[in-house]
Amino acid sequence: MILITGATRGLGCAMAGEFIRLGHTVVGCGRSETEIAHLQKQFPPPSHFATVDVSTDKQVAAWAKGILETRGAPDLLLNNAGRINRNAPLWQISAKEFSDVVDVNLKGSANVIHHFVPAMVARGTGVIVNFSSGWGRSTAAEVAPYCATKWAIEGLTQALAQELPPGMAAVPLNPGIINTDMLRSCFGGSASGYPSPLEWAKAAVPFLLKLGPSDNGRPLTVPIRGAND
Ligand SMILES: NC(=O)c1ccc[n+]([C@@H]2O[C@H](COP(=O)([O-])OP(=O)(O)OC[C@H]3O[C@@H](n4cnc5c(N)ncnc54)[C@H](OP(=O)(O)O)[C@@H]3O)[C@@H](O)[C@H]2O)c1
Repeated sequence: MILITGATRGLGCAMAGEFIRLGHTVVGCGRSETEIAHLQKQFPPPSHFATVDVSTDKQVAAWAKGILETRGAPDLLLNNAGRINRNAPLWQISAKEFSDVVDVNLKGSANVIHHFVPAMVARGTGVIVNFSSGWGRSTAAEVAPYCATKWAIEGLTQALAQELPPGMAAVPLNPGIINTDMLRSCFGGSASGYPSPLEWAKAAVPFLLKLGPSDNGRPLTVPIRGAND
């Protein structure tokens, strides 16, 4: 079973469709009830979609309890849900906007790890992929809060990799540059020069399915032409 946070739009939605097309079961979440209902209709059981805000620990706890009781631990956990600040210099970012980015990108990933990974550790197998960014390894003006969270994801994932038992893996993943709502927010019109989420998912999903214990702690980038320039 593949667990995807942020499955309602962008990369998460495209990955869900591609994993299911290849015969896998997907469990996914997002905040939008309408989009979650739409996804569940498009991808009926055994795949399952739930309205969950990953930044709210109680919601993640309830989601994990239900999934672990009925389906067991995920084989592949994709911490994909994310948000970016509106383009602005750091000194113009309010405390609330800064917190919102940290709460989803960093604390949201930690919440999901806290509630799902113990069952994976107990079983002794599974791969955890925390979505980083090119901006988790480099920086740019006007996206400082986002850069801060993605650099933090790289560090958090390296530490997690040192904690996992043999047989498991945690990797920080730079997906590349893909034309999603998030990219349009920071790149504006030039986002349209990058691959679509569906094109990206065709390359990313087989790449993700090959990850295993030998990848533990390796900072990886999805190999796809046009998305890494
Ligand atoms: N696109 C790129 O070029 C690019 C580059 C580098 C890294 N990334 C990373 O790749 C991941 C996916 O990005 P994307 O481009 O697909 O972004 P996107 O199009 O903005 O989609 C973000 C997804 O995350 C969900 N989400 C946001 N806040 C959430 C929350 N609190 N709880 C649960 N779900 C939440 C959104 O759904 P709802 O709004 O319904 O909750 C949506 O499904 C992110 O981690 C991003 O940082 C993307």
